[in-house]
Amino acid sequence: MAKAKTAYVCTDCGASSSKWQGQCGECGAWNTLTEFVVEPAAAGKGGGAAPSHQVGWAGRPASAGVVALKDVSQDAEVRVSTTIGELDRVLGGGLVEGSVVLVGGDPGIGKSTLLLQALALMSAHLPAIYVTGEESLAQVAGRAQRLGLPLENLHALAETCVEKILGQAASARPAPRLLVADSIQTLWSELLSAAPGSVSQVRESAAKLVRFAKETGTSVFLVGHVTKEGGIAGPRVLEHMVDAVLYFEGESGSRFRVLRAFKNRFGAVNELGVFAMGDKGLREVPNPSAIFLSGSSTAQPGSAVMVTREGTRPLLVEVQALVDSSPLSNPRRVALGLEQNRLAMLLAVLHRHGGVVTGDQDVFVNVVGGIRVQETAADLPVLLAVLSSLRDRPLAEKTVVFGEVGLSGEIRPVPNGEERLKEAATHGFRRAIVPKANAPKKGAFKDMEVIAVERLSEALDAAAD
Ligand code: TYD
Ligand code: MG
Repeated sequence: MAKAKTAYVCTDCGASSSKWQGQCGECGAWNTLTEFVVEPAAAGKGGGAAPSHQVGWAGRPASAGVVALKDVSQDAEVRVSTTIGELDRVLGGGLVEGSVVLVGGDPGIGKSTLLLQALALMSAHLPAIYVTGEESLAQVAGRAQRLGLPLENLHALAETCVEKILGQAASARPAPRLLVADSIQTLWSELLSAAPGSVSQVRESAAKLVRFAKETGTSVFLVGHVTKEGGIAGPRVLEHMVDAVLYFEGESGSRFRVLRAFKNRFGAVNELGVFAMGDKGLREVPNPSAIFLSGSSTAQPGSAVMVTREGTRPLLVEVQALVDSSPLSNPRRVALGLEQNRLAMLLAVLHRHGGVVTGDQDVFVNVVGGIRVQETAADLPVLLAVLSSLRDRPLAEKTVVFGEVGLSGEIRPVPNGEERLKEAATHGFRRAIVPKANAPKKGAFKDMEVIAVERLSEALDAAAD
Protein backbone atom coordinates (compact mmCIF):
# COMPACT_ATOMS: atom_id res chain seq x y z
CA MET A 1 0.00 0.00 0.00
CA ALA A 2 1.33 3.42 -0.96
CA LYS A 3 2.42 5.53 1.96
CA ALA A 4 -0.02 8.35 2.70
CA LYS A 5 1.31 11.86 2.98
CA THR A 6 1.45 13.08 6.53
CA ALA A 7 2.19 16.39 8.17
CA TYR A 8 2.78 17.62 11.70
CA VAL A 9 0.12 20.02 12.90
CA CYS A 10 0.29 22.13 16.05
CA THR A 11 -2.69 21.22 18.25
CA ASP A 12 -2.65 24.73 19.74
CA CYS A 13 -2.52 27.03 16.70
CA GLY A 14 -3.07 24.67 13.77
CA ALA A 15 0.18 25.55 11.98
CA SER A 16 1.49 22.72 9.86
CA SER A 17 5.05 21.57 9.25
CA SER A 18 6.54 18.72 7.25
CA LYS A 19 8.99 17.70 9.98
CA TRP A 20 8.46 17.03 13.64
CA GLN A 21 9.85 19.71 15.96
CA GLY A 22 9.73 20.04 19.71
CA GLN A 23 8.48 23.60 19.50
CA CYS A 24 5.86 24.98 17.11
CA GLY A 25 7.53 27.51 14.80
CA GLU A 26 4.37 29.64 14.69
CA CYS A 27 3.06 29.95 18.22
CA GLY A 28 6.10 28.74 20.14
CA ALA A 29 4.18 26.07 22.11
CA TRP A 30 6.20 23.00 23.16
CA ASN A 31 5.29 19.39 22.34
CA THR A 32 2.15 20.25 20.46
CA LEU A 33 3.08 18.97 16.98
CA THR A 34 1.06 15.86 16.16
CA GLU A 35 1.22 13.71 13.05
CA PHE A 36 -1.84 13.85 10.75
CA VAL A 37 -2.70 12.18 7.46
CA VAL A 38 -3.18 14.96 4.89
CA GLU A 39 -3.47 13.10 1.61
CA PRO A 40 -4.97 9.68 1.02
CA ALA A 41 -2.79 6.92 -0.29
CA ALA A 42 -4.08 4.97 -3.29
CA ALA A 43 -6.91 2.81 -2.01
CA GLY A 44 -5.42 -0.43 -0.88
CA LYS A 45 -6.63 -3.60 0.70
CA GLY A 46 -7.96 -3.65 4.16
CA GLY A 47 -10.18 -0.96 5.47
CA GLY A 48 -9.76 1.65 2.72
CA ALA A 49 -7.52 4.62 2.99
CA ALA A 50 -9.90 7.51 3.46
CA PRO A 51 -8.05 10.20 5.35
CA SER A 52 -9.29 11.00 8.77
CA HIS A 53 -9.93 14.65 7.95
CA GLN A 54 -12.68 13.60 5.54
CA VAL A 55 -14.32 11.53 8.21
CA GLY A 56 -14.61 14.48 10.56
CA TRP A 57 -14.35 14.32 14.31
CA ALA A 58 -17.44 12.29 14.83
CA GLY A 59 -16.79 9.95 11.94
CA ARG A 60 -20.16 10.80 10.45
CA PRO A 61 -20.93 9.96 6.81
CA ALA A 62 -20.96 12.81 4.28
CA SER A 63 -23.91 15.20 4.56
CA ALA A 64 -26.99 14.96 2.32
CA GLY A 65 -27.22 18.73 1.91
CA VAL A 66 -29.43 21.14 3.84
CA VAL A 67 -32.81 19.65 4.79
CA ALA A 68 -35.77 20.75 6.89
CA LEU A 69 -35.68 18.90 10.18
CA LYS A 70 -39.37 17.99 9.89
CA ASP A 71 -38.55 15.97 6.77
CA VAL A 72 -35.88 13.91 8.49
CA SER A 73 -37.16 10.43 9.21
CA GLN A 74 -36.80 9.71 12.90
CA ASP A 75 -36.23 6.01 13.01
CA ALA A 76 -35.78 5.15 16.61
CA GLU A 77 -32.30 3.82 17.15
CA VAL A 78 -32.22 0.05 17.30
CA ARG A 79 -31.03 -1.20 20.66
CA VAL A 80 -29.93 -4.63 21.67
CA SER A 81 -29.59 -5.83 25.23
CA THR A 82 -26.06 -6.67 26.29
CA THR A 83 -27.68 -9.32 28.55
CA ILE A 84 -25.96 -7.55 31.45
CA GLY A 85 -28.59 -5.34 33.08
CA GLU A 86 -26.19 -2.92 34.75
CA LEU A 87 -24.32 -2.37 31.47
CA ASP A 88 -27.63 -1.80 29.64
CA ARG A 89 -28.59 0.75 32.30
CA VAL A 90 -25.39 2.75 31.83
CA LEU A 91 -25.77 2.63 28.04
CA GLY A 92 -29.26 4.15 28.40
CA GLY A 93 -31.26 0.96 27.85
CA GLY A 94 -29.08 -1.32 25.74
CA LEU A 95 -26.45 -1.02 23.06
CA VAL A 96 -27.39 1.08 20.01
CA GLU A 97 -26.58 -0.58 16.70
CA GLY A 98 -23.67 1.04 14.92
CA SER A 99 -22.62 2.99 18.00
CA VAL A 100 -19.06 3.30 19.25
CA VAL A 101 -18.58 3.01 23.00
CA LEU A 102 -15.31 3.78 24.74
CA VAL A 103 -14.75 1.93 28.02
CA GLY A 104 -11.99 3.55 30.05
CA GLY A 105 -10.42 2.73 33.38
CA ASP A 106 -7.23 1.91 35.26
CA PRO A 107 -5.30 -1.18 34.18
CA GLY A 108 -6.58 -4.26 36.00
CA ILE A 109 -9.96 -2.77 36.92
CA GLY A 110 -11.86 -5.34 34.82
CA LYS A 111 -12.48 -3.79 31.39
CA SER A 112 -11.42 -6.88 29.45
CA THR A 113 -13.37 -9.14 31.78
CA LEU A 114 -16.58 -7.13 31.42
CA LEU A 115 -16.39 -6.89 27.64
CA LEU A 116 -15.46 -10.54 27.21
CA GLN A 117 -18.44 -11.51 29.35
CA ALA A 118 -20.81 -9.20 27.48
CA LEU A 119 -19.52 -10.26 24.08
CA ALA A 120 -19.68 -13.99 24.81
CA LEU A 121 -23.27 -13.70 26.04
CA MET A 122 -24.34 -11.47 23.14
CA SER A 123 -22.64 -13.68 20.58
CA ALA A 124 -25.44 -16.21 21.04
CA HIS A 125 -27.58 -13.84 18.95
CA LEU A 126 -25.12 -11.56 17.17
CA PRO A 127 -21.91 -12.47 15.37
CA ALA A 128 -19.08 -10.96 17.40
CA ILE A 129 -15.31 -10.53 17.17
CA TYR A 130 -13.04 -9.85 20.14
CA VAL A 131 -9.87 -8.17 18.89
CA THR A 132 -7.05 -8.50 21.37
CA GLY A 133 -3.91 -6.43 21.11
CA GLU A 134 -2.69 -7.08 24.64
CA GLU A 135 -3.33 -10.70 25.46
CA SER A 136 -2.70 -13.78 23.35
CA LEU A 137 -5.57 -15.81 21.93
CA ALA A 138 -4.73 -18.57 24.38
CA GLN A 139 -5.03 -16.16 27.30
CA VAL A 140 -8.40 -14.86 26.07
CA ALA A 141 -9.72 -18.38 25.48
CA GLY A 142 -8.42 -19.51 28.87
CA ARG A 143 -10.11 -16.66 30.66
CA ALA A 144 -13.40 -17.19 28.81
CA GLN A 145 -13.31 -20.87 29.74
CA ARG A 146 -12.55 -20.14 33.40
CA LEU A 147 -15.48 -17.76 33.49
CA GLY A 148 -17.73 -20.49 32.08
CA LEU A 149 -18.76 -18.38 29.08
CA PRO A 150 -20.36 -19.85 25.96
CA LEU A 151 -17.62 -19.88 23.32
CA GLU A 152 -19.34 -21.43 20.28
CA ASN A 153 -20.12 -18.17 18.49
CA LEU A 154 -17.40 -15.96 19.88
CA HIS A 155 -14.57 -15.25 17.49
CA ALA A 156 -11.29 -13.63 18.43
CA LEU A 157 -8.49 -12.00 16.50
CA ALA A 158 -5.00 -11.21 17.76
CA GLU A 159 -4.00 -8.20 15.66
CA THR A 160 -2.94 -4.62 16.23
CA CYS A 161 -2.83 -3.12 12.72
CA VAL A 162 -6.16 -1.37 12.26
CA GLU A 163 -6.22 -1.84 8.47
CA LYS A 164 -5.73 -5.60 8.91
CA ILE A 165 -8.43 -5.72 11.60
CA LEU A 166 -10.91 -3.99 9.32
CA GLY A 167 -9.92 -6.25 6.43
CA GLN A 168 -10.55 -9.33 8.59
CA ALA A 169 -13.84 -7.94 9.87
CA ALA A 170 -14.99 -7.19 6.32
CA SER A 171 -14.23 -10.70 5.11
CA ALA A 172 -15.50 -12.59 8.19
CA ARG A 173 -18.61 -14.67 7.62
CA PRO A 174 -21.08 -14.19 9.14
CA ALA A 175 -20.34 -10.47 9.06
CA PRO A 176 -19.74 -9.22 12.63
CA ARG A 177 -22.41 -7.08 14.29
CA LEU A 178 -20.24 -6.48 17.31
CA LEU A 179 -16.56 -5.80 17.69
CA VAL A 180 -14.38 -5.15 20.72
CA ALA A 181 -10.95 -3.57 20.26
CA ASP A 182 -8.88 -4.21 23.41
CA SER A 183 -7.12 -1.82 23.72
CA ILE A 184 -7.12 1.25 21.51
CA GLN A 185 -3.62 2.11 22.78
CA THR A 186 -2.16 -0.99 21.12
CA LEU A 187 -3.63 -0.26 17.67
CA TRP A 188 -1.72 1.44 14.90
CA SER A 189 -2.40 2.47 11.33
CA GLU A 190 0.07 1.85 8.53
CA LEU A 191 -0.60 5.38 7.29
CA LEU A 192 1.35 6.91 10.15
CA SER A 193 4.92 6.47 11.24
CA ALA A 194 4.33 7.40 14.88
CA ALA A 195 4.60 4.69 17.52
CA PRO A 196 1.48 2.78 18.67
CA GLY A 197 -0.03 4.49 21.69
CA SER A 198 0.89 7.97 20.45
CA VAL A 199 -1.91 10.48 20.13
CA SER A 200 -1.92 10.41 16.34
CA GLN A 201 -2.03 6.61 16.16
CA VAL A 202 -4.79 6.36 18.74
CA ARG A 203 -6.82 8.99 16.91
CA GLU A 204 -6.31 7.55 13.45
CA SER A 205 -7.11 3.99 14.60
CA ALA A 206 -10.23 5.16 16.42
CA ALA A 207 -11.35 7.25 13.42
CA LYS A 208 -11.09 4.18 11.21
CA LEU A 209 -13.09 2.05 13.62
CA VAL A 210 -15.73 4.77 14.00
CA ARG A 211 -16.07 4.99 10.25
CA PHE A 212 -16.36 1.21 10.03
CA ALA A 213 -19.11 1.23 12.68
CA LYS A 214 -21.11 3.92 10.93
CA GLU A 215 -20.78 2.38 7.48
CA THR A 216 -21.61 -1.18 8.45
CA GLY A 217 -23.89 -0.66 11.46
CA THR A 218 -21.54 -2.77 13.58
CA SER A 219 -21.42 -1.79 17.24
CA VAL A 220 -17.87 -1.23 18.44
CA PHE A 221 -16.47 -1.18 21.97
CA LEU A 222 -13.08 0.45 22.37
CA VAL A 223 -11.11 -0.27 25.52
CA GLY A 224 -8.93 2.63 26.67
CA HIS A 225 -6.48 2.72 29.55
CA VAL A 226 -6.53 5.82 31.63
CA THR A 227 -3.30 7.77 31.73
CA LYS A 228 -1.70 8.99 34.94
CA GLU A 229 -3.38 12.35 34.48
CA GLY A 230 -6.77 10.61 34.48
CA GLY A 231 -7.66 11.09 30.80
CA ILE A 232 -7.86 8.43 28.15
CA ALA A 233 -4.60 8.60 26.16
CA GLY A 234 -4.47 11.53 23.85
CA PRO A 235 -5.79 14.85 25.06
CA ARG A 236 -9.37 13.66 25.31
CA VAL A 237 -9.40 13.16 21.52
CA LEU A 238 -11.29 9.91 21.75
CA GLU A 239 -14.10 11.31 23.84
CA HIS A 240 -15.17 13.56 20.96
CA MET A 241 -15.12 10.83 18.37
CA VAL A 242 -17.23 8.17 20.03
CA ASP A 243 -20.94 8.01 20.89
CA ALA A 244 -20.54 7.06 24.51
CA VAL A 245 -17.74 7.11 27.07
CA LEU A 246 -18.01 4.80 30.07
CA TYR A 247 -15.53 4.90 32.92
CA PHE A 248 -14.85 1.95 35.17
CA GLU A 249 -14.00 3.03 38.71
CA GLY A 250 -13.19 1.23 41.92
CA GLU A 251 -10.58 0.76 44.61
CA SER A 252 -8.02 -1.95 44.08
CA GLY A 253 -8.71 -3.33 47.56
CA SER A 254 -12.47 -3.43 47.07
CA ARG A 255 -14.32 -5.93 44.96
CA PHE A 256 -16.96 -3.44 43.92
CA ARG A 257 -16.68 -1.69 40.57
CA VAL A 258 -18.72 1.22 39.30
CA LEU A 259 -19.33 1.85 35.62
CA ARG A 260 -20.29 5.45 34.92
CA ALA A 261 -21.50 7.08 31.71
CA PHE A 262 -19.41 10.19 31.21
CA LYS A 263 -20.87 10.99 27.81
CA ASN A 264 -23.77 9.32 26.02
CA ARG A 265 -25.35 10.44 22.77
CA PHE A 266 -28.13 7.92 23.31
CA GLY A 267 -28.98 8.25 26.98
CA ALA A 268 -28.52 10.03 30.28
CA VAL A 269 -25.09 10.60 31.74
CA ASN A 270 -24.04 9.98 35.31
CA GLU A 271 -26.03 6.76 35.38
CA LEU A 272 -24.16 4.18 37.43
CA GLY A 273 -23.81 0.46 36.94
CA VAL A 274 -22.47 -1.49 39.90
CA PHE A 275 -20.57 -4.79 39.71
CA ALA A 276 -18.70 -7.04 42.10
CA MET A 277 -15.52 -8.81 40.96
CA GLY A 278 -15.40 -12.43 42.02
CA ASP A 279 -13.73 -15.64 40.91
CA LYS A 280 -16.35 -16.01 38.18
CA GLY A 281 -15.69 -12.54 36.79
CA LEU A 282 -17.94 -9.53 37.22
CA ARG A 283 -21.32 -10.04 38.81
CA GLU A 284 -24.07 -7.43 38.72
CA VAL A 285 -25.17 -5.70 41.90
CA PRO A 286 -28.72 -4.61 41.08
CA ASN A 287 -29.45 -3.18 44.56
CA PRO A 288 -26.28 -1.35 45.43
CA SER A 289 -27.67 1.21 47.83
CA ALA A 290 -25.71 0.29 50.95
CA ILE A 291 -22.53 -1.33 49.62
CA PHE A 292 -20.42 1.81 49.97
CA LEU A 293 -20.74 1.98 53.75
CA SER A 294 -17.57 0.96 55.56
CA GLY A 295 -19.43 -1.71 57.52
CA SER A 296 -18.28 -0.45 60.89
CA SER A 297 -21.13 -1.02 63.34
CA THR A 298 -20.45 1.90 65.68
CA ALA A 299 -20.08 5.53 64.69
CA GLN A 300 -16.44 6.60 64.31
CA PRO A 301 -14.96 10.09 64.60
CA GLY A 302 -14.39 11.55 61.13
CA SER A 303 -17.13 9.61 59.41
CA ALA A 304 -20.42 10.84 57.93
CA VAL A 305 -22.92 8.88 55.87
CA MET A 306 -24.58 10.70 53.00
CA VAL A 307 -27.24 9.80 50.48
CA THR A 308 -26.06 10.61 47.01
CA ARG A 309 -28.21 10.29 43.95
CA GLU A 310 -26.12 9.34 40.98
CA GLY A 311 -28.15 8.60 37.88
CA THR A 312 -31.58 7.41 38.87
CA ARG A 313 -30.79 5.57 42.11
CA PRO A 314 -30.05 6.84 45.59
CA LEU A 315 -26.87 5.42 47.15
CA LEU A 316 -25.71 5.51 50.73
CA VAL A 317 -22.07 6.52 50.76
CA GLU A 318 -19.67 7.07 53.65
CA VAL A 319 -17.38 10.10 53.66
CA GLN A 320 -14.33 9.86 55.90
CA ALA A 321 -12.11 12.72 57.02
CA LEU A 322 -8.84 12.84 58.89
CA VAL A 323 -7.74 16.16 60.34
CA ASP A 324 -4.28 16.25 61.87
CA SER A 325 -2.01 19.08 62.97
CA SER A 326 0.38 19.82 60.14
CA PRO A 327 4.13 20.29 60.30
CA LEU A 328 3.95 22.12 56.96
CA SER A 329 3.62 25.85 56.46
CA ASN A 330 1.18 25.02 53.68
CA PRO A 331 -1.00 22.25 55.19
CA ARG A 332 -2.23 19.54 52.89
CA ARG A 333 -5.75 19.26 51.51
CA VAL A 334 -6.25 15.88 49.90
CA ALA A 335 -9.61 14.76 48.47
CA LEU A 336 -10.11 11.25 47.13
CA GLY A 337 -13.37 10.73 45.25
CA LEU A 338 -14.22 14.42 45.53
CA GLU A 339 -13.03 17.57 43.87
CA GLN A 340 -9.98 19.05 45.57
CA ASN A 341 -10.94 22.69 44.94
CA ARG A 342 -14.37 22.10 46.41
CA LEU A 343 -12.75 20.83 49.62
CA ALA A 344 -10.59 23.98 49.88
CA MET A 345 -13.69 26.12 49.36
CA LEU A 346 -15.69 24.21 51.96
CA LEU A 347 -12.92 24.60 54.54
CA ALA A 348 -12.93 28.34 53.91
CA VAL A 349 -16.71 28.46 54.47
CA LEU A 350 -16.25 26.39 57.65
CA HIS A 351 -13.79 29.00 58.90
CA ARG A 352 -15.73 32.13 57.94
CA HIS A 353 -19.25 30.98 58.79
CA GLY A 354 -18.67 28.23 61.32
CA GLY A 355 -15.70 29.72 63.17
CA VAL A 356 -13.78 26.44 62.85
CA VAL A 357 -10.09 26.89 62.05
CA THR A 358 -8.32 24.23 59.98
CA GLY A 359 -5.60 26.48 58.58
CA ASP A 360 -2.90 24.75 60.66
CA GLN A 361 -4.20 21.23 59.98
CA ASP A 362 -3.71 18.67 57.23
CA VAL A 363 -7.14 17.62 55.94
CA PHE A 364 -7.68 14.32 54.13
CA VAL A 365 -11.11 13.36 52.84
CA ASN A 366 -11.99 10.02 51.25
CA VAL A 367 -15.17 8.54 49.84
CA VAL A 368 -15.34 4.88 50.91
CA GLY A 369 -15.30 2.21 48.19
CA GLY A 370 -13.37 4.12 45.54
CA ILE A 371 -16.52 5.71 44.19
CA ARG A 372 -16.46 9.32 42.99
CA VAL A 373 -19.13 11.72 44.19
CA GLN A 374 -19.70 14.68 41.90
CA GLU A 375 -22.81 16.10 43.49
CA THR A 376 -22.82 19.18 45.69
CA ALA A 377 -25.01 17.20 48.13
CA ALA A 378 -21.68 15.96 49.53
CA ASP A 379 -20.76 19.43 50.86
CA LEU A 380 -22.42 19.18 54.25
CA PRO A 381 -21.37 15.56 54.95
CA VAL A 382 -17.76 16.51 54.10
CA LEU A 383 -17.79 19.42 56.54
CA LEU A 384 -19.42 17.39 59.31
CA ALA A 385 -16.88 14.58 58.80
CA VAL A 386 -14.05 17.13 59.00
CA LEU A 387 -15.49 18.67 62.16
CA SER A 388 -16.02 15.24 63.70
CA SER A 389 -12.40 14.30 63.09
CA LEU A 390 -11.10 17.65 64.35
CA ARG A 391 -13.09 17.30 67.60
CA ASP A 392 -12.51 13.54 67.76
CA ARG A 393 -16.22 13.07 68.38
CA PRO A 394 -18.39 10.80 66.23
CA LEU A 395 -21.70 11.98 64.85
CA ALA A 396 -24.72 10.46 66.60
CA GLU A 397 -25.34 6.80 65.66
CA LYS A 398 -27.44 6.14 62.55
CA THR A 399 -27.21 9.71 61.27
CA VAL A 400 -27.38 10.55 57.61
CA VAL A 401 -26.49 13.95 56.09
CA PHE A 402 -26.80 15.72 52.77
CA GLY A 403 -26.91 19.32 51.52
CA GLU A 404 -25.08 21.87 49.43
CA VAL A 405 -23.12 24.56 51.25
CA GLY A 406 -23.11 28.07 49.76
CA LEU A 407 -20.33 30.61 50.02
CA SER A 408 -22.27 32.71 52.51
CA GLY A 409 -22.79 29.76 54.83
CA GLU A 410 -26.31 28.92 53.70
CA ILE A 411 -27.41 25.30 53.29
CA ARG A 412 -29.02 24.85 49.89
CA PRO A 413 -31.47 22.15 48.89
CA VAL A 414 -30.57 19.25 46.60
CA PRO A 415 -32.86 17.43 44.14
CA ASN A 416 -35.01 14.47 45.26
CA GLY A 417 -34.63 15.11 49.00
CA GLU A 418 -37.58 12.96 50.02
CA GLU A 419 -36.40 9.98 47.99
CA ARG A 420 -32.98 10.20 49.66
CA LEU A 421 -34.58 10.25 53.11
CA LYS A 422 -36.72 7.23 52.25
CA GLU A 423 -33.65 5.29 51.19
CA ALA A 424 -31.89 6.15 54.45
CA ALA A 425 -34.96 5.17 56.47
CA THR A 426 -35.13 1.83 54.65
CA HIS A 427 -31.59 1.13 55.77
CA GLY A 428 -32.35 1.88 59.39
CA PHE A 429 -31.06 5.44 59.73
CA ARG A 430 -32.81 7.25 62.58
CA ARG A 431 -31.58 10.80 62.28
CA ALA A 432 -31.06 13.09 59.29
CA ILE A 433 -29.49 16.53 58.97
CA VAL A 434 -30.85 18.04 55.74
CA PRO A 435 -31.42 21.43 54.06
CA LYS A 436 -34.60 23.16 55.27
CA ALA A 437 -36.09 23.19 51.78
CA ASN A 438 -35.67 19.41 51.58
CA ALA A 439 -37.44 18.73 54.88
CA PRO A 440 -40.52 16.53 54.48
CA LYS A 441 -43.91 17.36 55.98
CA LYS A 442 -44.17 16.80 59.74
CA GLY A 443 -44.83 13.16 60.50
CA ALA A 444 -43.85 11.89 57.05
CA PHE A 445 -41.07 9.84 58.60
CA LYS A 446 -42.17 8.17 61.80
CA ASP A 447 -38.95 6.42 62.71
CA MET A 448 -36.58 9.17 61.69
CA GLU A 449 -35.84 12.49 63.32
CA VAL A 450 -35.29 14.99 60.49
CA ILE A 451 -33.31 18.09 61.49
CA ALA A 452 -33.82 20.83 58.92
CA VAL A 453 -31.06 23.44 58.75
CA GLU A 454 -30.76 26.73 56.90
CA ARG A 455 -27.32 27.91 57.98
CA LEU A 456 -24.01 26.14 58.47
CA SER A 457 -23.98 27.19 62.13
CA GLU A 458 -27.29 25.34 62.70
CA ALA A 459 -25.85 22.22 61.05
CA LEU A 460 -22.77 22.38 63.28
CA ASP A 461 -25.00 22.69 66.35
CA ALA A 462 -27.11 19.74 65.21
CA ALA A 463 -24.00 17.64 64.67
CA ALA A 464 -22.67 18.49 68.14
CA ASP A 465 -25.84 17.26 69.88
P1 TYD B 1 -8.98 -7.24 33.48
O1 TYD B 1 -10.34 -7.43 32.93
O2 TYD B 1 -7.87 -7.96 32.81
O3 TYD B 1 -8.60 -5.71 33.61
P2 TYD B 1 -8.32 -4.61 32.49
O4 TYD B 1 -8.69 -5.18 31.18
O5 TYD B 1 -9.18 -3.46 32.93
O6 TYD B 1 -6.88 -4.27 32.60
O7 TYD B 1 -9.09 -7.65 35.01
C1 TYD B 1 -8.03 -8.15 35.64
C2 TYD B 1 -8.24 -8.20 37.13
O8 TYD B 1 -9.46 -8.81 37.50
C3 TYD B 1 -7.14 -9.01 37.68
O9 TYD B 1 -6.53 -8.26 38.70
C4 TYD B 1 -7.78 -10.25 38.21
C5 TYD B 1 -9.21 -9.89 38.40
N1 TYD B 1 -10.13 -10.98 38.07
C6 TYD B 1 -10.84 -11.60 39.07
O10 TYD B 1 -10.72 -11.26 40.25
N2 TYD B 1 -11.73 -12.59 38.76
C7 TYD B 1 -11.91 -13.02 37.48
O11 TYD B 1 -12.72 -13.94 37.24
C8 TYD B 1 -11.15 -12.38 36.45
C9 TYD B 1 -11.30 -12.79 35.02
C10 TYD B 1 -10.30 -11.36 36.79
MG1 MG C 1 -7.38 -5.72 29.65
